[in-house]
Amino acid sequence: MSQETVIVLDFGGQYNQLIARRVRECRVYCEILPYTVDIEKIKSIAPKGIIFTGGPNSVYDTSSPHYNPEIFHLGIPILGICYGCQLMSYTLGGEVVSATDDAVSEYGKTLTSYSPDNILFKNLPEQGISWMSHRDYISKVPEGFSVTATTAHCPVAAMADDARKLYGVQFHPEVNHTENGSHMLHSFLYDVCGCQGNWRMDSFIDDTVAQIREQIGDKSVVLGLSGGVDSSVAAALISKAVGKQLTCVFVDQGLMRKNEGDYVEQTFTKLFDMNFVRVNCQETFLSKLKGITDPEEKRNIIGTEFYNVFWNKIRESGDTGFFAQGTIYPDRIESGKGDAAKIKTHHNQVGVPKDINFEGIIEPLRDLFKDEVRMVGEKLGLPHDLVWRQPFPGPGLGVRVIGEVTAERVKILQDADAILRDEMEQCGYADQMSQFFAVLPGVKTVGVMGDARTYSELVAIRAVTTDDFMTADWAKIPYEILGRVSNRIINEVPRVNRVVYDITSKPPGTVEWE
Ligand code: XMP
Repeated sequence: MSQETVIVLDFGGQYNQLIARRVRECRVYCEILPYTVDIEKIKSIAPKGIIFTGGPNSVYDTSSPHYNPEIFHLGIPILGICYGCQLMSYTLGGEVVSATDDAVSEYGKTLTSYSPDNILFKNLPEQGISWMSHRDYISKVPEGFSVTATTAHCPVAAMADDARKLYGVQFHPEVNHTENGSHMLHSFLYDVCGCQGNWRMDSFIDDTVAQIREQIGDKSVVLGLSGGVDSSVAAALISKAVGKQLTCVFVDQGLMRKNEGDYVEQTFTKLFDMNFVRVNCQETFLSKLKGITDPEEKRNIIGTEFYNVFWNKIRESGDTGFFAQGTIYPDRIESGKGDAAKIKTHHNQVGVPKDINFEGIIEPLRDLFKDEVRMVGEKLGLPHDLVWRQPFPGPGLGVRVIGEVTAERVKILQDADAILRDEMEQCGYADQMSQFFAVLPGVKTVGVMGDARTYSELVAIRAVTTDDFMTADWAKIPYEILGRVSNRIINEVPRVNRVVYDITSKPPGTVEWE
């Protein structure tokens, strides 16, 4: 690998992808590997540095993840974070105390004193807030190390052995709540590991385009376009590389937002050089979904049918050139949480049926995080609103029409959702939300319109703010906006007579209703 690389060794902590993203933000390429990876593999990559992540265990648990101690003798700089720091200390002969007393556990924002002489903390204030999440703590550093940060409860909030370039922090520098955390990671990467920072999206595009051209040669390539960010950016990148040798098959299952299918078609046929095939198949999907109300069954049917349509199209065309997909890095990271041998299956990675023999598979975004994919999309000239669109579930409105999915109910939901979108955009609130949408819960209620009694559908509004979608807050949208949305939906969407707002956070709710 010619690119300078840092390895994030995953011990099962919850912020592992965040660590990797922070490293990439410093323009250093990094890969997450599970702690079960063989040390020979690490040697073969010859990384500029290694970061041990946190993890849920205590170093004393019999089942807790450990690593071959030889790693500390490779001469490669290592930064241990939280559990990673404790593991470093434990393996090298320091003392880790398994705290039974909650008084020494630290969770959340913690005032921390840093030693300004240490390379990780130089030019930073001597005190600051760090984000802690630990029960065990290091009571004595291993030989050769010195203590470089402390808190009121933690005698070793950071430690360093400059001679061996081994560093440990008990807190989480990757989390935004740690003041100057990114600066500390930057110092580790540049001042300790000697990284140059050559990971840039411009060079990524040039290199990838050249690779795709070489791989495809004069063959054809086909990509299943869903209209989501990942497959759209993959399509744009491959189109830049091989133009009309690319055919995008856009399966419009009729479960997208109002007018979205047309928007995707216009974008790709106008802005990019490629063959674009749109398959309109709402009827097929609806007939498969007839009478089905169970959410998981609906998801299954929609996912399976999407690829049935796609593969049938390929069979029809007889095209067996290359097959491309918009797999991104988080889709294929192996987890360090015990089942490390198994790569998570995800909707972005599909198996090709046995009767179709492609020349090979192309996944041009396989090493990128979502924010990097978006940067590439912008640079390739995809419209801003397509690149920055909110997440949309693979099964589309199929999981927002609760209960049976019918053409009529999809249309009600699309119309209500379009009004919500319109109002949120007009008042400038849309950009402040992580995600917002309308739901059709399948509840009918009594109302009065004009002088007549109504008995019609209820629409629910869902809006959340979140950093990572693992947890989310319901959004505090001003009442006036909610009021306008409600008025317009009831007046403009036939068969709706009531609107409610979902004020459930995640947990205990989820973002979607199904
Ligand atoms: P939940 O409902 O699990 O949603 O809190 C978290 C985020 O994931 C999106 N989501 C999906 N995305 N296929 C997807 O590609 C799905 O089946 C799916 N279900 C939920 C959801 O919109 C939110 O952004």
